[in-house]
Amino acid sequence: MSGTLQIERTVAGVKQQVGEWKRAGYRVGFVPTMGYLHEGHQSLIARAVEENDKVVVSVFVNPIQFGPKEDLESYPRDLDADCALCERTGASLVFCPEVAEMYGEGFSTYVDMDLVTAELCGKSRPTHFRGVCTVVNKLFHIVMPDRAYFGEKDAQQLAVIRHMVRDLNMDVAVVGCPIVRETDGLAKSSRNTYLSDRERQAALALSRAIKAGREMIEDGETDGDLVLEKMRGIIEAEPLAKIDYVEMVRWDTIEIHHRVDCPVLVAIAVFIGKTRLIDNFIRE
Ligand code: PAF
Repeated sequence: MSGTLQIERTVAGVKQQVGEWKRAGYRVGFVPTMGYLHEGHQSLIARAVEENDKVVVSVFVNPIQFGPKEDLESYPRDLDADCALCERTGASLVFCPEVAEMYGEGFSTYVDMDLVTAELCGKSRPTHFRGVCTVVNKLFHIVMPDRAYFGEKDAQQLAVIRHMVRDLNMDVAVVGCPIVRETDGLAKSSRNTYLSDRERQAALALSRAIKAGREMIEDGETDGDLVLEKMRGIIEAEPLAKIDYVEMVRWDTIEIHHRVDCPVLVAIAVFIGKTRLIDNFIRE
């Protein structure tokens, strides 16, 4: 590393640095992450670097967005590699707090949301978005970004953050960025690292289903149920795959929708062995 990347572990340290940047008139971009960064995160950081004067990346595995039986303990971590990627992509500062720095003793304030969190991952992981909204809200207060960048791979999360920003009158522009895929189609994810070779092959059922669904709609199919039936068939043909959900929802409200007559999100969550993977496409 050349030493131009600033690493901060405290809220006070970030606030001081960002305060100086703001007083100097710099525009600040922000990429919140849970670390173990891959090319998907890198594309968000690169876009933020292009559109802002300074870029902050947070690396924090947020315990309150994991359910009791989920992979908090085993979630992959590699801070040195993350900092190296941030530095070579042009980020200015990495914020990597300990859990106690973010959730001090007696922490008891949460941000919750109805409607947009009722379906998809919000249904399968009931406390997940409360944890996401709470931490992103805190991070926005700490980093005070002009723009914040989120991947469309977590499409419901992107919709949830947009709603939170609107509902709570937050002064942040939320920028959605396209899914980055491996050459064989698998959407990049830190959780891909859990897959054995056989599971890695089986995981291609997700991107095959997404491609087939997208093509049906591009060819003019407007019956969402027919599209989902085709996609479920592709996933069910893979013995290692177990469907959590395959759904079509309105892109603005994330309510279940059956016709392609407005912008829709077609989203899937599938267990490959013990690993839960998600993928989607958006039809604007
Ligand atoms: O998408 C993620 O990695 C996380 O949900 C986020 C937005 C960093 C909040 O912990």
